[in-house]
Amino acid sequence: CGIVGYIGNNDSKEILLKGLEKLEYRGYDSAGIAVVNDNGVQVFKEKGRIADLRSIVDLDVLANTGIGHTRWATHGVPSHENAHPHQSNSGRYTLVHNGVIENYDHLKREYLQEIALKSDTDTEIIVQLIELFSKDLSTEEAFRETLKVLKGSYAIALLDKADNGTIYVAKNKSPLLVGLGDAFNVVASDAMAMIQVTDQYVELVDKEMVMVTKDEVIIKNLDGDIIERAPYTAELDASDIEKGTYPHYMLKEIDEQPVVIRNIIQKYQDENGALTIDENIVSAMKEADRIYIIAAGTSNHAGLVGKQFIEKMAKVPVEVHISSEFGYNIPLLSKKPLFIFISQSGETADSRAVLVSVKEMGHKALTITNVPGSTLSREADHTLLLHAGPEIAVASTKAYTAQIAVLAILAEVTAKAKGLSLGFNLVQELGIVANAIEILCDSKEAYEDIARSFLATTRNAFFIGRGIDYYVGLEGALKLKEISYIQAEGFAGGELKHGTIALIEDGTPIIALATQESVNLSIRGNVKEVVARGANPCIIAMKGLEQEGDTFIIPEVHELLTPLISVIPLQLISYYAALHRDCDVDKPRNLAKSVTVE
Ligand code: G6P
Repeated sequence: CGIVGYIGNNDSKEILLKGLEKLEYRGYDSAGIAVVNDNGVQVFKEKGRIADLRSIVDLDVLANTGIGHTRWATHGVPSHENAHPHQSNSGRYTLVHNGVIENYDHLKREYLQEIALKSDTDTEIIVQLIELFSKDLSTEEAFRETLKVLKGSYAIALLDKADNGTIYVAKNKSPLLVGLGDAFNVVASDAMAMIQVTDQYVELVDKEMVMVTKDEVIIKNLDGDIIERAPYTAELDASDIEKGTYPHYMLKEIDEQPVVIRNIIQKYQDENGALTIDENIVSAMKEADRIYIIAAGTSNHAGLVGKQFIEKMAKVPVEVHISSEFGYNIPLLSKKPLFIFISQSGETADSRAVLVSVKEMGHKALTITNVPGSTLSREADHTLLLHAGPEIAVASTKAYTAQIAVLAILAEVTAKAKGLSLGFNLVQELGIVANAIEILCDSKEAYEDIARSFLATTRNAFFIGRGIDYYVGLEGALKLKEISYIQAEGFAGGELKHGTIALIEDGTPIIALATQESVNLSIRGNVKEVVARGANPCIIAMKGLEQEGDTFIIPEVHELLTPLISVIPLQLISYYAALHRDCDVDKPRNLAKSVTVE
């Protein structure tokens, strides 16, 4: 979910709506804004997209103060009633909230037995509690007392009808920033939402409360003591978050991959052209007897490739775990573990929960993220940035390849520091990769053709590969299911015959990857097994390993780096499949780009 707020001398509606459009990647089940002026509070909310909300906002209402929300449903279905903002029964307080209040049942029983609740959401509990406590207290105090009893995650922005010159905000675990302007201030879940109006932001820390007026930002702890904090400059280029001439962000981001790889090489090079990273990170890598990579979704798939790099190049054993599983099922840890969190957004709550517990256990953590200053970056001991520029499409593309490139650099620099010789020049090899991606992106029509003929009407599809190709297959399947809703699965080629082959019917699409010489013949054997049972194969082979009948030959790159290029056809095939199935490419149903709830 995403939150915005504006307080200043201008009308707030358009600024809030524009901000919400920029945050739509965080959820788009429903959206709403509330504005307050001398005549009181007006709430506009609607199920669906920001465009739906825009169409119901009354343009005649002018107000200098307002808050807004775009929702990814957790408690309660996406509907008008469950859309934010929510109001207290008297209408005095209006609030938007991200996160999950874990003790909401308890709070309901303890404090709100007498209150008639209007919805089933944990958010309403917060606003009703504030109203209840405000009977004997000022709004500031009532807000603080409420924050003291809340358990769980939240980012909150609150309006008080009796005072249209203040927005009250607070956060715990969920991200929230205050942006500073000249005679105005703003609130946003992500600097991207408000970068058009300011690049100066103040970070909020868990369990603080902030009063934002048009001229002032007053931060207090829950005891009411004032806290001073200097703003930072958000290094975001407003033009980076525009689509330009592209029909979809996803296509733009696929095309950006060669530039991103070249940019990463540059960012991680020293003045002599050698790859380099912060020496504290190198020491942490050298000292670790085992590395635990923790990540969700696409980032987890990048982690699987990273494991190969770190083990093969730097000779450190690596385990890769899904964040949401690791949290409650921590394996036996080695004596000197190092945790690497991979997260495009740096905000995924499942990953953050693991970070919090491993820090409590006294372990060291490194975050690999695209977003400087994100929660996972702030809370880990070290950060490596992806330098990929904002990724807006929900389906991750350039962040995946950037994660893999940065993991390769991390492995190389660690190997070098350990005195191990790689036998190849990574800078040079990554340069070859960037050129190869460019070549692939230049022949999009071929992928469009295969998507149309192969995937336009199918119910399911399978991706197979062995070794590193298997991991890329997992990512290819995730891409396809996320945006085209085709039931797609990635399998290890040799494992198919142990069950999944039962699903093969006449015409079932199989996308096979063959980029590794050591398994080229065996994966070809697996293709034959499924073709014998009616499957329709699309074989993507690396130059030098091709055989007659292969569908695509991709340029040759170093055998460890093939995931960086073999994923490109899969991204493009998914993109065109979604397009031909009339799906919303950038905002697929039920998903959100940054999932800030566990
Ligand atoms: C969400 C997105 C996925 C993404 C995952 C992890 O579920 O829809 O595309 O891979 O979160 O996100 P992160 O920001 O931690 O990489």
